[in-house]
Amino acid sequence: MTAYGDLSVDVWTWNLDIDEALAARVSDWLTAEERKRAAAFITPQLQRRWIAARAGMRGILASVLGVAPQAPVFVLGPHGRPELAGGNSPHSFNLSHSDALAAFSVSEAAVGVDVERIKALPEGVAGMVFSKTEIAALEAAPEDARAVVFYRYWTAKEAVLKALGTGLSVSGRSFTIDISRPETPRLVSADWKDEDTQAWQLAAFRPAEGFAGAVAVRTQRPLRLNLQSWSFGE
Ligand SMILES: CC(C)(COP(=O)(O)OP(=O)(O)OC[C@H]1O[C@@H](n2cnc3c(N)ncnc32)[C@H](O)[C@@H]1OP(=O)(O)O)[C@@H](O)C(=O)NCCC(=O)NCCS
Repeated sequence: MTAYGDLSVDVWTWNLDIDEALAARVSDWLTAEERKRAAAFITPQLQRRWIAARAGMRGILASVLGVAPQAPVFVLGPHGRPELAGGNSPHSFNLSHSDALAAFSVSEAAVGVDVERIKALPEGVAGMVFSKTEIAALEAAPEDARAVVFYRYWTAKEAVLKALGTGLSVSGRSFTIDISRPETPRLVSADWKDEDTQAWQLAAFRPAEGFAGAVAVRTQRPLRLNLQSWSFGE
């Protein structure tokens, strides 16, 4: 039973490496403009992955809203965040993809999600987008754990930025995440005007072997994370 006051955040993950037949079938869910965007990718595999990501987003939204996958109409926020047209939906949603993995989150409060394949520690990136406290914590981590620590910070910070919807107009340096409890990162400080750092809840998850994931929700209520896998079915 849900504890009183918990806020649900649903996160679905799925595989983007679908075959041609399935890509052709679910392309029918996309608008002409979305199909054009898919066609612009340079390889057939990247085209299919983008189709699978957008179709998955449509398929999940369809089941949440009780409509056909073709029905949702998206408008873009000022920094490109897709939202449902009309502006009166009780649901906030966000998509992320990395290699062949996608994650899609839905909640009743502003939500952002990020998944990333854990690769070697990228040179010089933390210095550009992490706060001083985060850089010090990363440097203090044992060398063989540093890449994992980097992606824990990265996904948590991206999830917050994606919930804000501000894209790169808000610097990653302007706020600090604490990942001392890896499953429940916390936003501990931010130099944003009119934003209450207490009003954010984060959760980390492992979407697949070799990937990091995090979701951020603008709420003071404790989060109840429902992580599940999605498939297009037969
Ligand atoms: C575009 C951005 C929102 C996410 O980029 P990303 O991590 O490369 O991509 P993800 O796969 O996680 O998310 C992409 C999806 O987010 C959604 N999205 C697009 N703009 C968005 C925005 N401003 N806010 C939230 N979501 C957005 C879209 O659904 C998009 O899917 P699409 O590309 O298939 O249309 C943005 O934050 C960015 O460019 N980040 C670059 C990395 C960086 O410097 N991060 C700093 C970390 S501290």
